[in-house]
This record gives sequence, C-alpha cells and structure tokens, in this order.
Amino acid sequence: MEDFFPRDFHFSIFPTKNLSSHHETILEQIESIERKAFPKNEVMPIKDEITKKSNTMLIAYYYEEPNQKLNKRENNNITRKNLSRKQQANNNNIRESQKIKIAGYIIYSLLYSAHSLPITRIIKLCIHTSLRKKGLGTRLLEMCLGRTGVPEKSRAELHVDVQRKDAINLYRKVGFEIYGDLLENYYEIGRDAWFMVLVK
Ligand SMILES: CC(C)(COP(=O)(O)OP(=O)(O)OC[C@H]1O[C@@H](n2cnc3c(N)ncnc32)[C@H](O)[C@@H]1OP(=O)(O)O)[C@@H](O)C(=O)NCCC(=O)NCCS
Repeated sequence: MEDFFPRDFHFSIFPTKNLSSHHETILEQIESIERKAFPKNEVMPIKDEITKKSNTMLIAYYYEEPNQKLNKRENNNITRKNLSRKQQANNNNIRESQKIKIAGYIIYSLLYSAHSLPITRIIKLCIHTSLRKKGLGTRLLEMCLGRTGVPEKSRAELHVDVQRKDAINLYRKVGFEIYGDLLENYYEIGRDAWFMVLVK
C-alpha cells in the first residue's frame, strides 16, 4: 500500500456506465468503509443517498496491485500508441477482470435557492484507513468544489463532529472556517458539531 502514488488513483462520478461491471463490489466496499468509519447512527444507506436527485458521489479507486504490476511490465517496452488493436483489446480485458478497490468517496448536495447562490453541502467524505494522509481527501473535496463552481457559482458549507480533528484540519486547509456557535448535541446527546463555510 505504501507504494501508491497519486497517479495510481482514478476518480469518477458514481454510478457511471464506465464502471457498470463493478457496480455491486463498489457499493459493498463503500458500505464497508462507511461502517468502519462512522458510528451506527451516521452510517448512510449509500444506495439511497446516491439516488437522491440533489446528491452526487465522487469516488477514488485503483486496481489491485498484482495486475497493476502485470500492466507495468507489459508497458515497459511498448507504448500504447504502438499496441495493435488485439493487444489493446487484451489490455481492456485485463482491466475488466481486475479487482477494483475503493480508496475513498465524497457525497455532496447541490441545493438551489431563489434568493442566493446555490449551496454545495458536503454530506460525507471518507478515505479508507490504509490510504489516509496521501492527499486523497483534499483531492476529492477540491474536485467536488470545482464541479459545483465554488466559490463563483456556489457557496460551500458542511457540518462536522467537533471530535473529528483530522477532518476539521482538512476543511481548514481547503479554506473552510467555523461559522457561528457550537451546535450542541447535533449528532446525538453529547456529540456536538461545528458548522463550517468556505470563505475564500
Ligand atoms: C478526514 C479524512 C477524510 C482525511 O482524508 P485524507 O485523505 O487522509 O486527508 P489528506 O491527506 O488530504 O490531508 C489533508 C489535510 O487534512 C489534515 N489531516 C488529515 N489527516 C490528519 C491527521 N491524521 N491528523 C491531523 N491532520 C490531518 C491535515 O491538515 C492534512 O494536511 P497536511 O497533509 O498538509 O498536514 C480521513 O481521515 C477520513 O476519512 N476520516 C474518517 C471519516 C471522517 O472523519 N470524515 C469527515 C467527516 S464526514
């Protein structure tokens, strides 16, 4: 795992036709990451969340390592430009049969209002425990903000558990600041939240 570089990750909206053959495994993995990262009352029914019209999910993923090595070896002496159609088809088949692995995901809502700019609300951001601190959380958040045109075309906001220092640091790094007072018992009795808005 330590050998990953950002170029090994792919990013996509989900669901998407391109990943349709991996649909079920992607959902299963996201649900499993979700269950490990959040307390029971915050675990989201991902399938339901992403079918809501205002919600979008972006995923970061990679293909499992043994096949990646195979691809690298194959690619050593041969550039994609020089591949015959048959070889390219073979490569596509290899990718098709590779095991996809979810590295992280972000779910956000774009909420329209008659009186102000649309609001981009970050609903969930989570990175697989073994892949944290590699810039993926920042990357997914920035992709989301880019897609909804923050700050020119949309304002961004979120709620975060005051105990989630890693997440608060990340949000601050990207330009969010705490707005207003502590929201006591926001998640459940004894678990407070900050409301944060992007100020840049
Ligand atoms: C919060 C989370 C999404 C961060 O993802 P990540 O990919 O590890 O974050 P990045 O590598 O992009 O880090 C960006 C910044 O976040 C902060 N950060 C991330 N992990 C941190 C940690 N363990 N301790 C302190 N700060 C941390 C740092 O400011 C970091 O910048 P730096 O690398 O320059 O120090 C990840 O830890 C996670 O999934 N946590 C569990 C779920 C969660 O809390 N989600 C947010 C609420 S929905």
